[in-house]
Amino acid sequence: MQAAIMHGLGLPLDIEDVTPEPPGANDIVVSVEAAGVCHSDISGLRGYLGLENPTILGHEVAGVVTEVGADVRGLRVGDRIIGSLVPHCKQCFWCLRGQSHLCAETWSVRGVTRARTASGDAVTSMLGLGAFAEQMVMDSRLAVKVDSDLPAEQLALIGCGISTGAGAALWTAKVQPGSTVAVIGCGGVGQSLIQGARIAGAARIIAVDPTPFKREVSLRNGATDTVDPGQGPTAEQVKDLTSGRGVDYAFEVVGRMQTVTDAYESARRGGEVITVGIPSPDARIDLPATDFFRAEKSIVGSYYGSTQVASGFQVFADLIAAGRFDAEGLITHRYGLGDLARAFDELEAGEVIRGVVTF
Ligand code: APR
Ligand code: ZN
Repeated sequence: MQAAIMHGLGLPLDIEDVTPEPPGANDIVVSVEAAGVCHSDISGLRGYLGLENPTILGHEVAGVVTEVGADVRGLRVGDRIIGSLVPHCKQCFWCLRGQSHLCAETWSVRGVTRARTASGDAVTSMLGLGAFAEQMVMDSRLAVKVDSDLPAEQLALIGCGISTGAGAALWTAKVQPGSTVAVIGCGGVGQSLIQGARIAGAARIIAVDPTPFKREVSLRNGATDTVDPGQGPTAEQVKDLTSGRGVDYAFEVVGRMQTVTDAYESARRGGEVITVGIPSPDARIDLPATDFFRAEKSIVGSYYGSTQVASGFQVFADLIAAGRFDAEGLITHRYGLGDLARAFDELEAGEVIRGVVTF
């Protein structure tokens, strides 16, 4: 099969013919229908995610089950699935406490050899998925069956960007109706977050992004105000829009420490900062500690939007089908597998909300 392989840091992405490994008893084979191009794929290429090499990139994916291992329960050939970034094993400390997004089995499904190159080298798959390929051989615990007639491109986005973004508003922060929200970073994840805040009933949603196109799209997705960080400090502009107070919830969706600080300073006294972006591995958060105490601000990380995939993916599919969440509007670019290098360039250039590779 054709697959996009990362060979190592700084090396170009290669579209290669590789041979899939046979599935084990707990594995399934999935024919990939659509795979989203996410900033985390770029983070992977840069070494932020500590991926083993060579590996098949891609992790935001929808497809159809074509083969099922002997011990797999609950999945059949022909099922539509969305790839999950976590296995939801249902048995670990976290899964038993309703925190399946922190499932302890997360590492056991990664780093497994899933294909061989023409010269026989072992190839793993990014986060146990490896979506930029015609097929995925994967642990069945990473597959979530969905009952939906939506186009695969829209379902794919649920697997990462929509869950991470909208989940951060709905499930990590539990944004309250009538509240004020700032979203710092309005790429694919930020736009999903804006929609999540809108669905939660936020009264004010302030979208912060240096790219005019991103600010424009934000307004379509439910933002009530926009801020250009090029026009002055983000926090000052956010405070100007909120009677000098700052917002109830400030979301960081870029992955830089400057924007974490911006979010911290944009939150009101007693407000909450939620970090969504992926930082570089050596980054440290440096914040004024007296404000932490005196202003009673809280700061919380959001992983995968705290999404409980077993039920959460279907919730998003239903919200999209009901016209309450616009997934189609997030897709601004479509690519073939061979266009991936260009897809990454265009994402970095700020032209893209979400690009999707279709097969
Ligand atoms: N203030 C606000 N926004 C900024 C700033 C800034 N100082 N600098 C950059 N941005 C914006 C970019 O213009 C872009 O629109 O942040 C956005 C990042 O979006 P994408 O590159 O599309 O990334 P996305 O896929 O949305 O992911 C965002 O979450 O999952 C993680 O790894 C991912 O850290 C990344 C973040
Ligand atoms: Zn992603």
